[in-house]
Amino acid sequence: MSDIVIVSGSPVEVSRSQSILDYIGSILEGKGISVECVSVREVPAEELMSGNFRSSKLNEITEKLTAADAVVVGSPVYKAAYSGVLKCLFDILPQDVLDNTPVLPIMTGASISHLLALEYALKPLLSTLKGKPLKGIYYLDSQVDKMAAFPIQDEDLVNRTKKQLEYLVEQINTGKSFS
Ligand SMILES: Cc1cc2nc3c(=O)[nH]c(=O)nc-3n(C[C@H](O)[C@H](O)[C@H](O)COP(=O)(O)O)c2cc1C
Repeated sequence: MSDIVIVSGSPVEVSRSQSILDYIGSILEGKGISVECVSVREVPAEELMSGNFRSSKLNEITEKLTAADAVVVGSPVYKAAYSGVLKCLFDILPQDVLDNTPVLPIMTGASISHLLALEYALKPLLSTLKGKPLKGIYYLDSQVDKMAAFPIQDEDLVNRTKKQLEYLVEQINTGKSFS
């Protein structure tokens, strides 16, 4: 099983948050960490909309998250919170699916005024699922080029991203040394 699972909450195929998650995945793999990716886009819409708790796709995602040493969750800001489809997915996952797991939250948004969506929307959701959210990072659309191999266009943000990933990996290693 993978060390880190990356969850993408954008319903859009070519997405800013997805491009950052891909970049994060490549940094983690460069550190020798095994990474698995999950996207809201892979869950059939009727299963999300009907709250199908018995969905085989859902079981697969639950197994990945339960086995993960750490998780990265990314979402676009939609109407000052995370995307509705990410909430639909988390609504039908077991309530302790992130049990004691370090989680790095990231969000992309068009406006700096919704920076606090990270604090007041995404982090509480992750805590409800018993995850341990790290500080997290908010990326403005103007700082992200979703078509570029290195999507983060601001050097300070690149450094902050790398720092948060170092911290996430540190959390995994600390957790392992106590188990
Ligand atoms: C339906 C919708 C609602 C949005 N609402 C907000 C918002 O409330 N605040 C904000 O800063 N950006 C908002 N945006 C802009 C997106 O958060 C932003 O473009 C984001 O980077 C898109 O991420 P994605 O490409 O990964 O889907 C909205 C975009 C859409 C499509």
